Amino acid sequence: MEFHIYFRTVDVLSNTELWEKAGTEIFWYQAPTVVLDDSDPPFYRWYPDGITNACYNALDVHVRDGRGDQTALIYDSPVTDTESSLTYSELLERVARFAGALAALGVQKGDRVLVYMPMVPEALIAMLACARLGAIHSVVFGGFASNELAVRIDDATPKVIVSASCGIEPTRIVAYKPLLDKAIEIAAHKPDHCIVLQRPQTVAELLVDRDLDWQQVMDNAEAADCVPVAANEPLYILYTSGTTGQPKGVVRDTGGSIVALKWSMSRIYNVQPGDVYWAASDVGWVVGHSYIVYGPLFNGNTTLLYEGKPVGTPDPGAFWRVISEHNVKVLFTAPTAFRAIKKEDPTGKYIAKYDLDCLESLFLAGERCDPDTLNWASSKLGIPVIDHWWQTETGWPICSNCLGIEMLPIVPGSPARPVPGYKVDVVDANGSPVARGEIGALVVELPLPPGNFTGLWNADDRFLSAYFKSYPGYYETGDAGYIDENGYVFVMARTDDVINVAGHRLSTGAMEEVLSGHPDVAECAVIGVADPMKGQVPFGLLVLNAGIERPPESIVADVIQKVRDEIGPVAAFRRCMVVDRLPKTRSGKILRGTMRSIADGESWTMPATIDDPVSLDEISEAFAQFQVAG
Ligand code: COA
Ligand code: AMP
Repeated sequence: MEFHIYFRTVDVLSNTELWEKAGTEIFWYQAPTVVLDDSDPPFYRWYPDGITNACYNALDVHVRDGRGDQTALIYDSPVTDTESSLTYSELLERVARFAGALAALGVQKGDRVLVYMPMVPEALIAMLACARLGAIHSVVFGGFASNELAVRIDDATPKVIVSASCGIEPTRIVAYKPLLDKAIEIAAHKPDHCIVLQRPQTVAELLVDRDLDWQQVMDNAEAADCVPVAANEPLYILYTSGTTGQPKGVVRDTGGSIVALKWSMSRIYNVQPGDVYWAASDVGWVVGHSYIVYGPLFNGNTTLLYEGKPVGTPDPGAFWRVISEHNVKVLFTAPTAFRAIKKEDPTGKYIAKYDLDCLESLFLAGERCDPDTLNWASSKLGIPVIDHWWQTETGWPICSNCLGIEMLPIVPGSPARPVPGYKVDVVDANGSPVARGEIGALVVELPLPPGNFTGLWNADDRFLSAYFKSYPGYYETGDAGYIDENGYVFVMARTDDVINVAGHRLSTGAMEEVLSGHPDVAECAVIGVADPMKGQVPFGLLVLNAGIERPPESIVADVIQKVRDEIGPVAAFRRCMVVDRLPKTRSGKILRGTMRSIADGESWTMPATIDDPVSLDEISEAFAQFQVAG
């Protein structure tokens, strides 16, 4: 495998020089004369006087440069038994037409459009059409229930919602339209219109006046041109889990995103225009935004949209089939997908069935990558397996082995070193840097590089308090870890109520809000416990009101259903038990961390601040009995 050696250039450049140079690699209607406006930290603004358009950079630029016949998008859907592809010219034609349709419904620059869709090409078309108009898309993952969707509708106040009649999970068809209708009913804000893609598996009922059929809208639309957009205007809002039931609306701007994502494709992933790049994720997550849609298209790659799972569609060879059939050069997915494959095919029998010579590297992110999984993948595939660390907020990797710059030795358990543009430190509770090897809060020195979030939608105060208050001068990542003597970063755990379930970011705080809404529940806690396949799963503990006569199992069944209905199946909330009381500190704080250690069978010490030590013994006993009961 050949690596491009850019590191000398990167090393000698200052942060602003690096991003000034990277800024020249994209298309601008008006090139920026200022690289960084740092007059109002932490509201840093990259390329403040630049004018550009994300859709132009994703599509038009390639057609203009004579690559219109190159495949832009491959759609591979084992759940519908469909495969298709679109060239850059074809994708541009559809996106321009859908942009025309949105414009005809009154969508203009700055308006929000919510996209609630399964993994179909139309999801990507809708996102790019918004970008074409300078409208702000907000994609909501299909595994969220109506309530979560309603919260996002109320926060983003979209003019139009784009959805589909259904999504297809291996064991069932998920009718999206009833979920959407219910969400709009719950929400205070009502969109003017919903555009619904009718899929043959389920045909949705459309409401006269409000709902429109995707195909009809497309048939009647006229192509719309790109609208020039100031670099700092938002490209999108993506809601992510925080510590409460109110998700954080991460806002990313247009210019910085184009520059950073395009830069990352060649420097981190080592792909060149024309290479097939596959991020096996979902457009509803940040990985989908950055590396199914925008990054590969900005870079002129062929991107792959896969509607299926790593196992069961139809077998653990699904990924290998896709790679060999479509000549995939780089695969990016979550470690959980590999754990699922390894569980069903530990000896790699299915890997041997396919010619995987095209695959040069595998990138993993979304959760801590356990060394076992990384070692299994690299021994079976015989290629570099790169763990890299990033977040919805950063939009692209903070730490990674940058294969297009220089390949560093792989150290299982570490996502290697900070990517150029990021300076990562570990600090103690007072914000003072700790010694190498010591664990503490992982923070990034400001300013964050381009492509990172520029704010939270309608929530400046939360933006400041959640990320910049505890450690002045730094961005607080919410992760804890350490840096070793070689400068390798180790990301160990979240410092807040966020858990990672099968690579999906969820809030235990949000689940606690649902549980405490049950009339029989007096008090509750949700903790993330270790799971061999999903990494973590939520575990609920309930204290019931005095005098409740219903059997505890029926209340547990109620709350499990309630989380599924109010947050969604993606929460994977299946484990829950009733206890007499929750262990607390003397100031009344529930000892979630200690309970998590007990549940995971780790060693733990009695906290000095505990109110009543017997309560932890009781919890220990309750977990033991829960495990025995299976
Ligand atoms: N729409 C509707 N429901 C969805 C959904 C969607 N888009 N995605 C998941 N769900 C549902 C599933 O059907 C399942 O429902 P169930 O409780 O009725 O079975 C539930 O949400 C949990 O789904 P999931 O977490 O995907 O678990 P799984 O057991 O179906 O599959 C894996 C496990 C590991 C195979 C799967 O989680 C996976 O492929 N993960 C990779 C994650 C990823 O790409 N993360 C992005 C970061 S890179
Ligand atoms: P998300 O915003 O959904 O991308 O989730 C971000 C969180 O996932 C991070 O804050 C980490 O807790 C976790 N995460 C992502 N990538 C890694 C990684 N490579 N190693 C450890 N944790 C990771």
